[in-house]
Amino acid sequence: MRILGIETSCDETAVCLIEAEGSLDAGVRFSILGNALYSQIAVHAPYGGVFPNLAKREHAKNLVPILQEALREAGELVECSDPIPLSAEVRGTLAREHELGDALQAFAAHYKVPQIDAIAVTHGPGLEPALWVGVNFAKALCTLWGVPLVAVNHMEGHIMLSAVHENAIRPIHFPLLSLLISGGHTELVLSRQWMEYELVGGTRDDAVGEAFDKVARLLGLPYPGGPEISRLAREARERGITLGETLPRAMMHSGDFDFSFSGMKTAMRRMAEARTPLSEETRFALSREFEDAAAEILVKKTLAAADAYGARTIIVGGGVSANTYIRSSLHSALKENGDNISLLVPAPSLATDNALMIALAGYLHAARGEYADTKTLAADGNLRLAKTA
Ligand code: KG4
Ligand code: ZN
Repeated sequence: MRILGIETSCDETAVCLIEAEGSLDAGVRFSILGNALYSQIAVHAPYGGVFPNLAKREHAKNLVPILQEALREAGELVECSDPIPLSAEVRGTLAREHELGDALQAFAAHYKVPQIDAIAVTHGPGLEPALWVGVNFAKALCTLWGVPLVAVNHMEGHIMLSAVHENAIRPIHFPLLSLLISGGHTELVLSRQWMEYELVGGTRDDAVGEAFDKVARLLGLPYPGGPEISRLAREARERGITLGETLPRAMMHSGDFDFSFSGMKTAMRRMAEARTPLSEETRFALSREFEDAAAEILVKKTLAAADAYGARTIIVGGGVSANTYIRSSLHSALKENGDNISLLVPAPSLATDNALMIALAGYLHAARGEYADTKTLAADGNLRLAKTA
């Protein structure tokens, strides 16, 4: 089955065409036919964060060029001699996105209908204005090309991508515990079988990625802050630079699997202010202390939850899973803890948002016959993956 995935939940505009076969129990194999991504990081960086309406405008501007790039790579961008005009229904779907409607009209006038079986789109969670552009675009394409629509939860995409190894989703041992860490999420999710999710813990305030980004801003580092803090922290470890003061490890002994990162951020502000003007060494030391604290909390809570639920596999997914220190801390802790739980993390280049994860999760739903209604599918910024345990 050929699935086109579309992702616009935050600041990446991404389109990916895959061919996939098989089932989760027997193993899913896939090949990437075309994969294109435009990151808006440079657009948002001057503001130190993502502006939803700016993100929406950028998605609307870039979706058609990114679609063309993915189709070209797949050999599916074929010129046609007799163009199809956009129907009133397709135009109507993009009524709020004039510019995108015009771009799609020009596209439809030039290119043949590609060989695809379904279109999968992220409908949440994320920034709602940004999500809507993707959802409306996917609906318009489904109507234009006469293919069905699949609705994908962005977080399920992150989980599935972490289970990928060499172009396959391999069978895993359950229970599975997923640590989902991104700019908007910090959650521990339990699965007793594929595609069933129970929330066992989550953040009570900021997400860990958000905390990385806010602390980076505090230290005068550019957006997105996660990779920057991590770079400085690594240098501090290499050069043996320490702060001489520790951040509080919030909720470490709360007896549940919840997190809190806003107190840590406030403590960081206090520690930074006490050392103003910040020398380069102090920036290194503060970054290291923050990353140490974040990693320690994530590792301890994840291991405690894995123990409580008898997890046999742990998946780490979401943008913060790109963090090599958090990965290696978890890896070492699991080794020390008996080495009987498999740890699955995404390929570093696929840790942050992309459309492969949406195409993959979309395939899994399509294979089960789970399609969405092109008339009624709505974007939902707060879409939940898991029911509370
Ligand atoms: O999953 P993602 O691309 O977008 C959301 O769905 O939020 O995650 C983006 C988040 C940002 O907060 C970014 O700072 C963080 O992931 N991030 C990192 C690293 N790379 C990205 N955080 C810590 N260390 C990293 N290496
Ligand atoms: Zn994400």
